Amino acid sequence: MSNSIEEIKKEVEASVVSSDVELEAFRMRFISRKSVIGELFGNMKTVPAEERKAYGQDVNALKNLAENRFQFHIDNLKSGAKKSEDHPDLTLPPIESQFGTIHPLTATRQRFIEIFERIGFNVSSGPEIEDDWHNFTALNFPENHPAREMQDTFFLEKNPDIALRTHTSSVQIRVMENEKPPIRTLSPGRVFRNEAISARAHCVFHQMEGLYIDKGVSFADLKQTLYHFAKEMYTKETQVRFRPSYFPFTEPSAEIDISCQICHGEGCNICKYSGWVEIGGAGMVDPNVLESCGIDPSVYSGFAFGMGIERITMLRYGIKDLRLFTENDIRFLKQFNSL
Ligand code: DAH
Repeated sequence: MSNSIEEIKKEVEASVVSSDVELEAFRMRFISRKSVIGELFGNMKTVPAEERKAYGQDVNALKNLAENRFQFHIDNLKSGAKKSEDHPDLTLPPIESQFGTIHPLTATRQRFIEIFERIGFNVSSGPEIEDDWHNFTALNFPENHPAREMQDTFFLEKNPDIALRTHTSSVQIRVMENEKPPIRTLSPGRVFRNEAISARAHCVFHQMEGLYIDKGVSFADLKQTLYHFAKEMYTKETQVRFRPSYFPFTEPSAEIDISCQICHGEGCNICKYSGWVEIGGAGMVDPNVLESCGIDPSVYSGFAFGMGIERITMLRYGIKDLRLFTENDIRFLKQFNSL
């Protein structure tokens, strides 16, 4: 018996506790009623009567030793926890800072503005909720033009004269009404159309409008400006092509294509195997539009263009689905953290 007391004593003295779990294990083994020491007390009645007193004293001494050791472990754990609070471990790697990133549409808009500011353009803005005059009538839309119909435009139910602007061309009108030529301005902004959301279309998207009005502005100026833009926004090798088109507010009008930035003319599903992708529309401002804004078309001429910022951005970074821009998936957005 006393051997076993000796063994348990050594075990208690050598014990090391460095967590709450180990402390509980110590308590179970040496302190609780079912502990090895408790067992020793239980054995008392089997000890011969003449040895019982000495046995009892030894077990009691062992019990006190275990209790003291238990308290020692408790104190140690407490001061250990406090120590690590007071002295953070300086060898640990730092927690990475979580900086936000520039949204790719913002980066493209900023680059767009930078390119045009260098050739004398300023930035203007207009309201997203527009009246019929600025969105349609002053832009020479005929009264029965299909774009005015409900399927394209979000009109205000109570007042069909008010709508969410369908393009940033409305800002052209506001600028021309308020400023005298020469005018060189860029108008970035959100536009709204009643379209189903898909990989290629959205009911809310962004456009960049450009307008240049002065004496003697020609189609050659328009072409040269857009050549310059495409090479600055993309690469020096980028080609630009003008296709004849129709817009009520320009005459002549063109659609602007650039050489596909994804396949570089080889043919891919982005350019539908043509090697070209459309980035917007442009043309010479129609004399009727100048007149609507109080600018004399016999003195002044000008060009205008409108481009989709989403489209320009998709071609810039090879993004294939427009919905990624608005889903706010951190995994998508954080790829642009070097912008
Ligand atoms: N407003 C046209 C659209 O949303 C784009 C556009 C075409 C703007 C030709 C222009 C322009 O300024 O000259 O589809």
